[in-house]
Amino acid sequence: MTLQTESIVELPDGTSYRQPVGLFISGEFTTAQGQLSLDTVNPYTGTIICSVARGRSDDIDAAVSAAQSASKGWKDTPPRQRGQLLQTLAQLMRRDADLLAKIEAVDAGKPVHIAKEADVLAAAACVQYYAGWADKIKGDTLETDPKTLNLTVREPVGVCGLIIPWNFPILMVGWKMAPALASGNTVVLKPAELTPLSALYVGKLVQEAGFPPGVVNIVTGFGAEAGAALVAHPGVNKISFTGSTPVGKGILSASADSSLKRITLELGGKSPSVIFNDADLDEVVEWVNGGIFYNMGQNCCAGSRIYVQEDVYEAFLEKFIRRVEKNVMGDPFHEKTFLGPQISAAQHAKIMGMIENARTQGAVLAKGGESPHGWFIEPTVFRDVRQDMDIMREEVFGPVVAVASFKDASDALAKVHDTCYGLAAAVFTSDLKQGLGMAKSIKAGTIWVNCYNMITHELPFGGCRESGVGKDLGEDVLSEFTNTKSIRIML
Ligand code: NAI
Ligand code: MG
Repeated sequence: MTLQTESIVELPDGTSYRQPVGLFISGEFTTAQGQLSLDTVNPYTGTIICSVARGRSDDIDAAVSAAQSASKGWKDTPPRQRGQLLQTLAQLMRRDADLLAKIEAVDAGKPVHIAKEADVLAAAACVQYYAGWADKIKGDTLETDPKTLNLTVREPVGVCGLIIPWNFPILMVGWKMAPALASGNTVVLKPAELTPLSALYVGKLVQEAGFPPGVVNIVTGFGAEAGAALVAHPGVNKISFTGSTPVGKGILSASADSSLKRITLELGGKSPSVIFNDADLDEVVEWVNGGIFYNMGQNCCAGSRIYVQEDVYEAFLEKFIRRVEKNVMGDPFHEKTFLGPQISAAQHAKIMGMIENARTQGAVLAKGGESPHGWFIEPTVFRDVRQDMDIMREEVFGPVVAVASFKDASDALAKVHDTCYGLAAAVFTSDLKQGLGMAKSIKAGTIWVNCYNMITHELPFGGCRESGVGKDLGEDVLSEFTNTKSIRIML
């Protein structure tokens, strides 16, 4: 069988485009050395869109070599020139935003209009933001005594392995690749096997923008093959990973067993929303509805636990259920659709199993709970959920929320912290003191007050405890992608 490096993909709106399907190594698309491929599926129809290269350890070796060869040249490229190339890439992503949104819609089941704004244009904006950082990364001078001059310099870590998930495919390319490149690293990117298409398309744009060969390499393939090989490779200096907590833990120990890489892990969560009785409930239901059902609940910071102060518990539930009923579920290519299908048969089955288990354990189903067809799952609300029930404790990664009441702030805090995670949390109140007090007390990486999911690339994002290690975004991520060197000069 002769494998291709490009496929003509027909889109549901009747248009078609040329999709790169090879591995992107040293600036060229090639087939996998084992001549293997993997199919990627449209979650709305369950049908195969096309096949992409199935990279394995020999392909990772080739990509890491390419990244190592390009490393010195890229590190020595004047920072403002690196910034200029990223700026060009951001422009090309914007130019092709309509097509990239359709690619995300077919490959990930995301509603196309949401994918354009929240995924593609947000990714382009993130690339542009780090284009601006490229020539602003700086060290320090420090006074110690009259006989020495002391400097710190910030140097790129080297070759970075970027392993990204299927829930925000192109957005995660922007989040991880842009700061890595801006700070002078070369990268090997491993997209999720369920959604490889937008990252490969970005590879084509990287080529068009004129990045030197080997600065960006993309190896599609399975986690246990390409992903594990990247983590184990001694030539890789850093891994930045977003995905499940068990795989993240495995990456940490695999890194320790190989060459002790620097590691950033952005993992799972069970993020709570705390609603006090003085909150504006009409506004609250908008935020918490988006908080859990955005991206079909497939969101690491999904607001999957809702705690409501006793006095307004019933009033909240009534308004919330009415709001949930208005969510439009259906074809990702329809303008009004808010909820598409879940990503895969396996995720669908896992989530339906968790819904079933919640009912068995006695959680009260207040809305949804069924799968109408295909990989769709109704927005599902369980009420009166006890802290010891699985649905209050385990990450569902689907459109399912657990609601319970609380007495006062200290009861709310006890419930909020009764988890192994610490990614995000939200507080709703019209009392600023209450809001700020909770924001200071809650142990999590991000706290939203009177809003939800308000992620922006200027602010660092990442959790504590089993939600991960290190940060994406903001200025903070630049220290994840650089090493500080101290220099003392005797005068
Ligand atoms: P996963 O953690 O297996 O996949 C994420 C990425 O890691 C993919 O690119 C995958 O190929 C790669 N990977 C898998 N095993 C690897 C290994 N041994 N070494 C290196 N890379 C590896 O997540 P999966 O299986 O797709 O989803 C399962 C659950 O994970 C979901 O139900 C959800 O709870 C959680 N998840 C969380 C995400 C987040 O944003 N925090 C994103 C995706 C999944
Ligand atoms: Mg797919």
